[in-house]
Amino acid sequence: MKVAVFHGSPRKGNTYRATNIFMDELSKCGEFCFTEFFMPKDLPDFCTGCTLCLGGQLEKCPNAQYVTPILEAILRADALIFAMPHYGACSMPGAMKNLFDHLDFLVLPVSPRAEIFEKKAFIITTGSGSAAAIKPAKKTLKHWGMNRVYALGIRMHTNLWNKMPKRKQEKYEKALRRSAQRFFKAQKGSPYLSTIFFYHISKFIVRKYVGAGNYPYEYWEEKGYFNKRPF
Ligand SMILES: Cc1cc2nc3c(=O)[nH]c(=O)nc-3n(C[C@H](O)[C@H](O)[C@H](O)COP(=O)(O)O)c2cc1C
Repeated sequence: MKVAVFHGSPRKGNTYRATNIFMDELSKCGEFCFTEFFMPKDLPDFCTGCTLCLGGQLEKCPNAQYVTPILEAILRADALIFAMPHYGACSMPGAMKNLFDHLDFLVLPVSPRAEIFEKKAFIITTGSGSAAAIKPAKKTLKHWGMNRVYALGIRMHTNLWNKMPKRKQEKYEKALRRSAQRFFKAQKGSPYLSTIFFYHISKFIVRKYVGAGNYPYEYWEEKGYFNKRPF
């Protein structure tokens, strides 16, 4: 199984440790090939907001040299892992948000990729407010049409894993290993109702408000997305 892993923080701390436990357990389940990306090293520049990708000219993105290998790894992978600590304003680190900004052309009303409709993703977060970091990441992945999105928030109250009582360390390690086993076994399911709903809204928008002769109308036509639900 090919897995693309996105580390949302350069700090090799709690989240990195949790992600490695998860990856270690996956490796015990079968044959895995992990392609890892570290934010911000592997995508060091911010999205400039040029909107070229939203107009179908991804190759002209000022940061295409970073985005292209990331997109290729995503499309190639069977599964994706997004790992991030929870940061203050109820969200994820800016470096991870920057990754999602650069990939926003994947959302259903623009140029969703058929490959993504087949995939599963897992989000790992650490920090006492983990749920707040999971929420926007999960929503984004569902907007890409991802078939299944799972998450585990490690609600730890310290920035040092080893400072947690032994009992807690064991509890979180067990939860990570159990989640990895379940993630490994998870089969493709029927699409989320929210995805179906969003697809129909997107189809309406692209047909009525984008219109023939404009991007992404042609993209949708070429892919046959107007004719039938692609997932
Ligand atoms: C800028 C910043 C903001 C943070 N904000 C929060 C927060 O609002 N709530 C929280 O629970 N932890 C917060 N934390 C703590 C981290 O989320 C937590 O310690 C996490 O486990 C660190 O993961 P890491 O070791 O992978 O960096 C913050 C950390 C940083 C650096």
